[in-house]
Amino acid sequence: MGSVAERLSAELERPGLVLSEPAEVAAYTTDWTRQFSGAAPCVLRPRDTDEVARSVRACRKLGLALVPQGGNTGLVGGSVPRAGEVVLSLSRLNAIEAFDAASASIQVQAGVVLQALHEDLAARGHVFPVDLGARGSCQIGGMIATNAGGIKVLRYGHMREQVLGLEVVLADGTVLSNLNSLKKNNTGVDLKHVFIGSEGMLGIITRAVLQARPAPQAVQTALLALDTRHRLPELLTLLRERLRGLSSLEIITRDSIAFYKEQEPSARAPFDKPYPACVIVEEETGAGGNERDAFVERLSGVIEAGLAADAVIAGSDAQAQAIWRLRDGVTEAISRAGLTHKFDVTVPPGALPGFLDEMERLGDAAGDLRTLLFGHLGDGNVHVNMVQKPELAEQAFYAKGPALAESIYSHVAELNGSISAEHGIGIAKRAYLHHSRSAEEIDLMRGLKRLLDPDGMLNPGVLFKSD
Ligand code: FAD
Ligand code: MLT
Ligand code: ZN
Repeated sequence: MGSVAERLSAELERPGLVLSEPAEVAAYTTDWTRQFSGAAPCVLRPRDTDEVARSVRACRKLGLALVPQGGNTGLVGGSVPRAGEVVLSLSRLNAIEAFDAASASIQVQAGVVLQALHEDLAARGHVFPVDLGARGSCQIGGMIATNAGGIKVLRYGHMREQVLGLEVVLADGTVLSNLNSLKKNNTGVDLKHVFIGSEGMLGIITRAVLQARPAPQAVQTALLALDTRHRLPELLTLLRERLRGLSSLEIITRDSIAFYKEQEPSARAPFDKPYPACVIVEEETGAGGNERDAFVERLSGVIEAGLAADAVIAGSDAQAQAIWRLRDGVTEAISRAGLTHKFDVTVPPGALPGFLDEMERLGDAAGDLRTLLFGHLGDGNVHVNMVQKPELAEQAFYAKGPALAESIYSHVAELNGSISAEHGIGIAKRAYLHHSRSAEEIDLMRGLKRLLDPDGMLNPGVLFKSD
């Protein structure tokens, strides 16, 4: 009886598949938030679907549980071991396999990094319309497993809307393959949707066929300064009416911008005075010389209506990137600063102003936290980040979490919102799932888990505590 790594190596007989050096394994055991961490006896690093299936069968034979891991950028603790599980990394399945121009579809392995896909498609005059701040690390398989959203959901939808076909390895090692590029395929239950958003607890995604789109001819970007947050629903209505190619609408509040500037003193303030909120507006337009002028004209209507006080309109790609840098910079600054209670919720647009005020009130009442609000305004998706102040000890910081979660999620439920807009449930939110899902729905999810993974070997503890 050797160690787990030795037994797996003997079972798999594939050199290089099992990583067991403690220093190397450690790189896979802490998540991006640094709040979830565990020990793994080893990491499996298969190179193709067959090796994934063999790995799963070997773990099953030895009675070992598995945590599938992509880019490890997930924010709910589902990508790292918690109780000595083996990590199964998809990073080596990183081939972009085939592009079909006639259907604008692309087949990729699960470990392809989002940015690599963006770059590949750009060279073909196409885009993959899901984009998010973790683009340099997150992988297609992880994004499908979490049904990632990001900054273009408003126009193009989540990952779910982009997936045409999927290949999945089940808990018994069966390879379920439906790698078609058909848009239309009403042949019974569309099984891919069972796995999209299932956070690695029903199967391991190994390949996907994704819908690409022709690159937009031009993209216009602006940053609006708002002198009140209370007219956000009106702003949303007017922007939707006037900007027919609206592709992103993101909000960053004053405190979030101030926090970013503290962390990045060299960053330039977008306006000469701090406004209660800034909104990034992006529209896809035609390529003509006067498209920017027309965009400016449409936005000037927003200023004339008193819905924005000022605006910066990008005149070049570099200026557009500088605007987006502010948005990505806020997320990164928060992660660098310290521990954060992260809530990722959706509320109906009409409820947004009151909701933002209520989040700040709750943060202040909890004490020694900085409440930083930003998110995907066009989807009603607010990222509520309550950051530990330096004077707050780690234990005291964690102690505030459950009461804050309960207050925020019950308020979200009263508003008919969702307790997880795009990050998933993982470990972090499983105790609160009942705020957004009925008992019947949770029972059915448990039933699916029992059907597809009767021994509970895939990502145990994710979504709900193991039976
Ligand atoms: P991981 O973190 O490795 O895994 C996430 C979950 O999926 C885990 O439960 C894991 O077990 C499972 N999993 C991973 N790969 C597979 C697979 N091949 N098969 C089955 N299960 C698998 N999310 C958004 O939706 N919108 C955003 O705007 C957004 N912005 C972000 C910005 C930053 C800076 C960061 C760090 C994260 C952000 N996220 C965002 C979180 C987001 O969920 C992830 O970035 C991404 O979707 C996860 O991909 P990953 O490859 O890193 O998955
Ligand atoms: C974002 O939109 O920046 C994210 O989803 C990440 C976060 O909430 O931290
Ligand atoms: Zn987000």
